[in-house]
Amino acid sequence: MFATQPSRTAEATAFQRATERLRPPRERVLDDPWAEHFLRPGERAALAAYRASRLVKRADEILGLTPFVVLRHRYIDDRLREALAAGARQVVLLGAGYDSRAFRFADLLAGRPVFEVDHPATQQRKQRILRGLARAAPLPAVDVRRVAVDFERDSLEERLAAAGLARRRTFFAWEGVSMYLTRDAVKETLASLRRLAPRGSRLAFDAWFLLDDPDLRSTWHRFSANLLSLLGEPVTFSLHPEDAGDFLAREGFALRDVARAADLERRYPVRGRRRHVYPACYLVSAEIA
Ligand SMILES: C[S@@+](CC[C@H](N)C(=O)[O-])C[C@H]1O[C@@H](n2cnc3c(N)ncnc32)[C@H](O)[C@@H]1O
Repeated sequence: MFATQPSRTAEATAFQRATERLRPPRERVLDDPWAEHFLRPGERAALAAYRASRLVKRADEILGLTPFVVLRHRYIDDRLREALAAGARQVVLLGAGYDSRAFRFADLLAGRPVFEVDHPATQQRKQRILRGLARAAPLPAVDVRRVAVDFERDSLEERLAAAGLARRRTFFAWEGVSMYLTRDAVKETLASLRRLAPRGSRLAFDAWFLLDDPDLRSTWHRFSANLLSLLGEPVTFSLHPEDAGDFLAREGFALRDVARAADLERRYPVRGRRRHVYPACYLVSAEIA
């Protein structure tokens, strides 16, 4: 059964990407001009408060969640660029939410199709908003195919094949999704990708893990993940970064890179300054072996 309401966590990540545009251009690690359009009136008011309040910004920096969401998007942008340069012929965004890569990468994609996979309720809201924007100004001409799937119940293979996914080199982004799935659904999704796409196809995704430090900050991180249950999207799947390579190898993927919070902080400084990144999530880049 599909979620009947559009995803609230997808709105939250759009909000977090929108906050990056409040910085001067030379201080941004990401520029997503579309994110703000997907916010509800209350979220726009929160963005205005964010703009006005140094305190909110400080609290966010302490928790590190917004820097994580912004840097993970940038990290996956970089992996997408590499994959296109290495010959990827199509792109699949698993749990796309309000991802605007089809627009932001329109030139680099050069007509290659982008398959956006998500629950239909989120996709319908996205399409409605985009239709409204298109009335004001033409949207970039891109080949976007929206595919309705519940990773817990549906056959990703059947749905993607029906939407026209061909068996050729593919880049898969699976951003902000694995932690909301059961272990079975994560493994089944990986198995589907392996069956759908040839060797050398690449995947970038993020995962959550249980910090084992007993200090207060880590206790807060363990607790804060549970708060997402209040948005109807409880965090369920965890994979320790030290185990990612073995886990992926069992599922038929070769690990290319793991970037933990400290790696993201080091790789993406802003004018020489590192941002504090939420430490319980990390990024993975892998390819079908
Ligand atoms: C945190 S949002 C991330 C959205 C987007 N990838 C981003 O980074 O902004 C999680 C997304 O995964 C989708 N999702 C979660 N569980 C899903 C499932 N079982 N089947 C399909 N989509 C799912 C949600 O609808 C939502 O759009």
